[in-house]
Amino acid sequence: MSHAWSPASWRAKPIQQQPIYPNAAHLLEVEQKLASYPPLVFAGEARELRRQFAEVTQGRAFLLQGGDCAESFAEFSTLKIRDTFKVLLQMAIVMTFAAGCPVVKVGRMAGQFAKPRSANDETIDGVTLPAYRGDIVNGIDFNSASRVPDPERLLQAYHQSTASLNLLRAFAQGGFADLHQVHQWNLDFIANSALGEKYSQLANRIDETLAFMRACGMDASPQLRETSFFTAHEALLLNYEQAFVRKDSLTGGYYDCSAHMLWIGDRTRQLDGAHVEFLRGVGNPIGVKVGPSMTSEELIRLIDILNPDNDPGRLNLIVRMGAGKVEAGLPRLIQTVQGEGRQVLWSCDPMHGNTIKASSGYKTRDFAQILAEVKQFFAVHQAEGSYAGGIHIEMTGQNVTECIGGARPISEAGLADRYHTHCDPRMNADQSLELAFLIAETLKQVRR
Ligand code: PEP
Ligand code: CO
Repeated sequence: MSHAWSPASWRAKPIQQQPIYPNAAHLLEVEQKLASYPPLVFAGEARELRRQFAEVTQGRAFLLQGGDCAESFAEFSTLKIRDTFKVLLQMAIVMTFAAGCPVVKVGRMAGQFAKPRSANDETIDGVTLPAYRGDIVNGIDFNSASRVPDPERLLQAYHQSTASLNLLRAFAQGGFADLHQVHQWNLDFIANSALGEKYSQLANRIDETLAFMRACGMDASPQLRETSFFTAHEALLLNYEQAFVRKDSLTGGYYDCSAHMLWIGDRTRQLDGAHVEFLRGVGNPIGVKVGPSMTSEELIRLIDILNPDNDPGRLNLIVRMGAGKVEAGLPRLIQTVQGEGRQVLWSCDPMHGNTIKASSGYKTRDFAQILAEVKQFFAVHQAEGSYAGGIHIEMTGQNVTECIGGARPISEAGLADRYHTHCDPRMNADQSLELAFLIAETLKQVRR
């Protein structure tokens, strides 16, 4: 791609999945306001995540990325942020300790508001209204006033993101993530379950190790007291993302400072489209969702555009084929990438290819299918001599009943009990921990 990039060059390209705002002047006014506000992250932090991504790509660490499908204005609270963060810490420590593998932690948090939709409209009882596109665009209530896209929502999303990120930074660096607190991360409602018990046993072993280190005078390292935690969201609303592009004074490069990492969804990854154009020009680590329709030729052209320097920390391919489709779709993509000598971080999203409708009407996912896709992903990488570097999941620390199955099984009839998601069904803390133990076992076997 030879033409010049600018923060606004995406505007000349075809674009998918955008709301139609009734008042363009109002939108412009909000964009200008956002552009004058402080950014959420700094370029140096995005570069640090790139450095950590390169470690993963080269097989020396594992990427854990998780959080809500869609954050919402109504579900904004300290406890919800804290509990999701706790479960991510638990998952990370299980993998680090049980598999001896450093884990890079990235939340689908502090900015994950906009949703791509399969249809532009929704019809209920003969009434057709614009689809809900996430709280950053319009309201979830099915009435015409709520479904009108409102630019003021971009400002509310910004303010909620800054407050969430502020709390996450405090948790990561202010003592909450101290390894000596490892028992405290167990949530009350899972403490008495088999998984809670399995986690407590692991936490006891960590306590013993820390006591041993202390006795030897080896416990002064700051890594034991704090952790690094990064944020990411789908870069879907480019009017919003463009407002956060800043020129880094150290390197002169552009960064999208709305989050450390941004990804392109499976519905907006067209080679000549606006989303690819926008993200090719910012220096953040970026992701691309890879669904079953991706061809080898398309993938290489996408890599050419998004990672022309073949930097191992730049590009995360997030594979979301669906259980049962991995063995047919993934080997040829890995072979092409290897054959062309491309450095990419491969991760597995076992959620978006496994969404089903329960007989009761709820959108759900079967935990057995989620586990199956993860296992298939690891097996294919092992067979191809490639490194399965990460996992990308929709989960929450709340005790929700949105995905069926798991060690404390949720039945189809049980979905109605605590079904709270604003978009796709998430794993609860039990299911997330179960997945972490499975990955830790697999990682132990496959790591060089
Ligand atoms: C998502 O991650 O929320 C999403 C919509 O995924 P995909 O683009 O893979 O469908
Ligand atoms: Co989703």
